[in-house]
Amino acid sequence: MLKRLEELRAEATDLLGSASSETELEELRVRFLGRKSELNQVSRGLGGMEPSERKAVGQAVNALKKELGALLEEARERLAGGGDAKPGLDLTLPGRRPWVGRRHPVMRTLARLEEIFTLLGFEVALGPHIEDDFHNFEALNIPADHPARDMHDTFYVEGDRLLRTHTSPVQIRTMRSRKPPIRIIAPGRVFRNETPDASHSAEFMQLEGLYVDRNVRFGELKGVLTRFLRELYGPDVAVRLRPGFFPFTEPSAEIDVECRVCHGRGCSVCKQTGWVELLGAGMVDPRVFQAVGYDPDEISGYAFGLGVDRICMMETGIDDIRLLMENDLRLLRQV
Ligand code: FA5
Repeated sequence: MLKRLEELRAEATDLLGSASSETELEELRVRFLGRKSELNQVSRGLGGMEPSERKAVGQAVNALKKELGALLEEARERLAGGGDAKPGLDLTLPGRRPWVGRRHPVMRTLARLEEIFTLLGFEVALGPHIEDDFHNFEALNIPADHPARDMHDTFYVEGDRLLRTHTSPVQIRTMRSRKPPIRIIAPGRVFRNETPDASHSAEFMQLEGLYVDRNVRFGELKGVLTRFLRELYGPDVAVRLRPGFFPFTEPSAEIDVECRVCHGRGCSVCKQTGWVELLGAGMVDPRVFQAVGYDPDEISGYAFGLGVDRICMMETGIDDIRLLMENDLRLLRQV
């Protein structure tokens, strides 16, 4: 009997070692360890054996069951652990391409705008996100009781410190630290306590422009902005100037372009009007020159401020400004 057990051991070890699928393993388990297996029959027949033989065979049967159980487990792990024999593994499939990071679409738009204005002779100037009342309002001819302050619902930090509501304070900082001629653009983030919708966000990017010298005229402002929009959108771009009001410019204008998302037909970006307001602009108000210590009889200039996110939306076809802030990778990978 012991010899027979030894034969079973050799046979099972051999087969378990070369098994190549779960199904095969299960068949071997039933055959060598199952209820009707030869080993189990020997177990059941132990009662009819001579006591001395029963002890030796009983011990050998138990040892063999244990050994085969361990071999079975080992074979299962080998199959689950993969290797060339793993079922379903197709070595001919192409590899997975890693995602490569790139600039956020708003930053790409900003880089393009800076490129165009640099070509037109403007240099970049920067200012802080946390401003004070003087630079954000007072020096821009927006005194505390001026109704124009209602135009900017402001996030106050503490005291007269606030998150800048536009990039115009950079005009003040630049003029106070330099003498004309000045020709700058000031890109950066601005903050307004507004209820967001498809074209309004509480945090967005503006790009300010300022040109100050002797004898600067409105025609130059119109010329430089038209040239800029043609560089950006091509020579056929439809542009519209409307009279506007800003306390820091006089006269002032709002500049619209035909909506690039719907091509003038009307959509959520242009609020069904076919036009999108991109810029505010005008001739620098004499009171602003006084606030920075320039003589308004000697010096003149123009200024403009544009919404970078809105330009980005029209370039990418994204029809809701809030999507630009969410940073959902599924969207960012498409634009
Ligand atoms: C200003 O902020 C003025 N400082 C611009 C200016 C500068 C005028 C210099 C004259 C001289 P306004 O609030 O209109 O103006 O904003 C300028 C541009 O920012 C708008 O034309 C629009 O494109 C964009 N913008 C305004 N509000 C939002 C908003 N909530 N979300 C996204 N873009 C906005």
